[in-house]
Amino acid sequence: MINVCELFAGVGGFRVGLEKSSQEYNFVWANQWEPSRKLQHAYNCYVNHFGTENHVNIDIAEINKNEIPAHDLLVGGFPCQDYSVARTGAKGIEGKKGVLWWQITEILKAKKPRFVLLENVDRLLKSPASQRGRDFGVMLACFHELGYSVEWRVINAADYGFAQRRRRVFIFAFRNDTTYAKNINRDNLKSMIHKDGFFIKKFPITQDESTDVSRVEGGQIDFSMLAAQENDLDYETVSIVGKEIIDISDNFSLEFKNSGVMINGIIYTEQVEADYHGNRVLLGDILEQDVDEKYYIDGEEKLEKWKYLKGAKKIPRTSKSGHEYIFSEGPLAFPDPLDRPARTMLTSESSVNRSSHVVEDPATKRLRIITPVEAERINGFDDNWTNTGMTEKFRYFCMGNALVVGLVAQMGESIKDIFNNEK
Ligand SMILES: C[S@@+](CC[C@H](N)C(=O)[O-])C[C@H]1O[C@@H](n2cnc3c(N)ncnc32)[C@H](O)[C@@H]1O
Repeated sequence: MINVCELFAGVGGFRVGLEKSSQEYNFVWANQWEPSRKLQHAYNCYVNHFGTENHVNIDIAEINKNEIPAHDLLVGGFPCQDYSVARTGAKGIEGKKGVLWWQITEILKAKKPRFVLLENVDRLLKSPASQRGRDFGVMLACFHELGYSVEWRVINAADYGFAQRRRRVFIFAFRNDTTYAKNINRDNLKSMIHKDGFFIKKFPITQDESTDVSRVEGGQIDFSMLAAQENDLDYETVSIVGKEIIDISDNFSLEFKNSGVMINGIIYTEQVEADYHGNRVLLGDILEQDVDEKYYIDGEEKLEKWKYLKGAKKIPRTSKSGHEYIFSEGPLAFPDPLDRPARTMLTSESSVNRSSHVVEDPATKRLRIITPVEAERINGFDDNWTNTGMTEKFRYFCMGNALVVGLVAQMGESIKDIFNNEK
């Protein structure tokens, strides 16, 4: 059994994905709490499917981390926030209040899970605009300090055949004393991305001629030496060895690419492209038949509003500081093309909003919004997964928060293989 702890569980995307991939996943604890809402729809949906046992509906900040059951794998999708830290005199350093990353680090310190799989928006790699890469640098430095190495990849689900163009960064961290960590080809960081690492197993990328994936066999390498010797490599690395988190927070900046590794404090990052030739699921493939009349856009006025929202516009605006500028945006395809994957689903999908989907119903040829079941299918959940007592508005909201479960299922297969080799 692989004991799993699921944070920020929402309606259970990680659990659904991992359980799809193997029966060996055993969820020992989950946590979900929607801040400042009386009705806890996502939590209710989760317990409706998985029961109340070991699922806690309390702000994660209120949880005594030592009381969380021991687990092998920690999973969760959480928001991109400000991860900077400040010196606080006697107490050492402190991150901003309410920033969920610090809750995750507390759990890592208390429970030391061997493996961690996290999901975030890809903007995390670039944040904040004033110090590009600082927040992810802080995250890597925390993992390093706690004895973990990390591999990350930005994955657009549609690039691997799924029904949604949803781009998210997945972060796989492993404790440096695992068999997995000891066996990987740590002396060629580039080959981690192209040949030996976690993501390449299920998510192939194009390999160009400059890609040297030759394996340097045998021998352990001293990574502080590697940093010093980086000119000997045919690629550049960045070292955070010996750097304090406060230094990273104050000074670190790096243009993180869509894939990379941090092993023993040495970072290598590279822009990669998906290379996929399998099946593709398109928006037209997941539409329901005979949908209720209420989803149709009826009347000229409503149609005009949608056309306006989706259309190109140039609007004069005044900024807070009084500066006048022209806000402009290009046109969005209207209706959404059925021969492409859906666009990214947001929590606002239920509202009349530029980013909400509008389709031409194949049977009636009339325009309509997507149904809650279609929203579930776009993420790969079973039909009516969120039909657990919440209003339709919240069903879309929960799907906007969730993830493409098929991606997690594929990662689940890789993690299971890794566990098979752990003692
Ligand atoms: C990006 S969503 C993750 C959704 C999930 N992966 C799924 O498949 O549904 C983040 C979740 O964290 C929850 N959350 C936000 N702040 C929290 C906190 N302080 N404690 C516990 N959960 C929190 C939100 O309610 C939301 O459901």
